[in-house]
Amino acid sequence: MVRRKGTAMRLAGDVTPLFGNNISFEKRMAAPGRACLRGAFIMAALQLDLTHRPRRLRRNATVRSLVEETVLRPADFIAPLFVVDGKGAPEPIASMPGVLRYNIVDLVKECRALAKLGVPAVALFPKLDKKLKDDFGGAALDADALILRAVRSVKKAVPELVVMTDIALDPYTTHGHDGVLTADGRDVANDATVEILTQMAVLHAQAGVDFVAPSDMMDGRIGAIRRALDAAGHTQTAIMAYSAKFASAYYGPFRDAVGSASAAGTHHLDKYTYQLNPANRREALTEIALDEAEGADILMVKPAGAYLDIIREVREATRKPVAAYQVSGEYAQIQAAVQLGWLDLARTRHESLLAIKRAGADMILTYFAKEMAAALR
Ligand code: PBG
Repeated sequence: MVRRKGTAMRLAGDVTPLFGNNISFEKRMAAPGRACLRGAFIMAALQLDLTHRPRRLRRNATVRSLVEETVLRPADFIAPLFVVDGKGAPEPIASMPGVLRYNIVDLVKECRALAKLGVPAVALFPKLDKKLKDDFGGAALDADALILRAVRSVKKAVPELVVMTDIALDPYTTHGHDGVLTADGRDVANDATVEILTQMAVLHAQAGVDFVAPSDMMDGRIGAIRRALDAAGHTQTAIMAYSAKFASAYYGPFRDAVGSASAAGTHHLDKYTYQLNPANRREALTEIALDEAEGADILMVKPAGAYLDIIREVREATRKPVAAYQVSGEYAQIQAAVQLGWLDLARTRHESLLAIKRAGADMILTYFAKEMAAALR
């Protein structure tokens, strides 16, 4: 019998004196003639003298709901959506079961459905035809770019839906990096990239996005984009900064989705000179502080599930809203285990997102947004 330190054990009735206090509980229970008493004895006669019984608050579903600390709601989610040109049927993405690339017409339908379910925002990502890509990501500044047409269509059809777009060059460059490369091709050229991104952000603002979301991790881009937006009169266009974006293996399936994975022939595109080292916590807080000072409206941590400690620290370090991105690899991991019959989809999905919110995220970008919103209704 377990006897907790400092906890007096009281045995009711006259059982204890019969055996004496130095005989173990197990021996008492094993004593001849006591067999039939055993069950009742355990339940009724043994009572720990406890001041605190935390299980009182877990007795039934009603009590549990009363003391529930974190609650997910459809308005917590931002749905990332992939868009392609043309009129084709929605395209599946092998490593992201259930996620599709839509043409603009179908994208608008999907946006309407999301808005109806109470999802307040979408984050749009284009997948470009290979022949539109070049080393400089020139198509990003095309006045008739796919992403701009998509934004205009969605804002026209579902004006109340918050539309966000990624500001980075990876869907547009042959090498798949988020910016233009230096002369020796061994790194991303920071300041030249920032210059292109500011122009890109202004184009997106003109098309009507509510938020631009720089995901490139170049130094100084938030300040530069804020100034450019304001100079062009877009003072109401907000910035959601991918501030603590780690160089993560969990982006793999996304790179398949936008076709930025293997352009240079290598599957594992190395972004270590601009994205954060997964080993670093303080450096993430430095990036958060810089983006906040430069004028970001929402600060993001990405990925989410493996970085819950960072989400918590960021939540405590700023008064700004904090977003977290449950990325493609997190989604794929759950879906794969579900396909193998090893995890339950609805419960794992819910728990993974609950943990992210509990860690401190005010909003979550997740490929589960639609299903979650439907499930929470
Ligand atoms: C690129 C970008 C990435 C993601 C969002 N924007 C990938 C990358 O940095 O290579 C990842 C999203 C996901 O994995 O779901 N700027």
